[in-house]
Formats: sequence, structure tokens, C-alpha cells
Amino acid sequence: MDFDRKELIRAAFAAQKYAYVPYSRFWVGAALLTQEGEIYTGCNIECASYSPTNCAERTALFKAVSEGKHKFTAIAVVGSVQGQQNALITSPCGVCRQMLYEFGGDDLLVIMAKSEDDYQEMRLGELLPLGFGPRNLEQPADS
Ligand code: THU
Repeated sequence: MDFDRKELIRAAFAAQKYAYVPYSRFWVGAALLTQEGEIYTGCNIECASYSPTNCAERTALFKAVSEGKHKFTAIAVVGSVQGQQNALITSPCGVCRQMLYEFGGDDLLVIMAKSEDDYQEMRLGELLPLGFGPRNLEQPADS
């Protein structure tokens, strides 16, 4: 797929700086590429009552969808514990995989990066096989 992966990863690192993570101290940034070539970024945002916490991937997705963007080609994700290098890649959690599937489908490219030069990429269809999505709810034309 023809786009600048390093630029998308850089955007994810830039967003990671804004992570609001007083509880987990796990810093995540994401950068979502629209089909038109725009980048929407997000960070994780935690909450004292824990469960309303929003992951970086969904923050980026919700920003984009709330501005009318519905088609995406790729997302870069970076994550690290406080003050550390990215020892492991951060892959989207199950909830984010499902939400990304809603708009990206099987083909969305997920770039999980430790640095601009060290990353792994997979299609969302590999991370969420047999995903349940909008097509499952389509009604036959004559119903
Ligand atoms: N988190 C993300 O933002 N994205 C992921 O892909 C994995 C987990 C966040 C949620 C929470 O703020 C922190 O990381 C620890 O789970």
C-alpha cells in the first residue's frame, strides 16, 4: 500500500505525548489515515472510575467519524509504559478491533510500531478473523 508509514508512525508518537494516563501510566498514541490521505490522531484517555477509559485508537476513530470521515486505509499504534522505550508492540484491544472493523473492514492495515523503523503490520482481518460488521445486518432488498 502506497503511503508514508514513517509519517503515520511519527503522528502516532506525537499523539502519544497527550495520553492522559494517571492510573495505568501506559502511554498510547494512534494515527488513522483516511482514504483521502488525511491523518487523525488520538491518545488514550483514562478516568478515575476506570471503565469509561478510551483507547487511543478509538479516540482517533471518533475524531475522524465526528468530522464525517468513514473510510480508512491504515492506522499506526504506539504504546509504552512510563518513561520506557517501546519494548513490545502494542496491538489494538478487542474493543478497538471491533470498532475499527466497523469502518475499516478486513483490509485496514494496522501498523504496530516500536519506532519509525521497527514495526509489524497486519490486516485487520488477520487480527479479527470473521469479524461481525455492517454487512451482517444488511436486509435483503425485498424485505
Ligand atoms: N490502551 C490503548 O489505548 N490502546 C490499546 O491498544 C491497548 C490499551 C490503553 C487503555 C488504557 O488507558 C491503557 O492502555 C492500559 O490498558
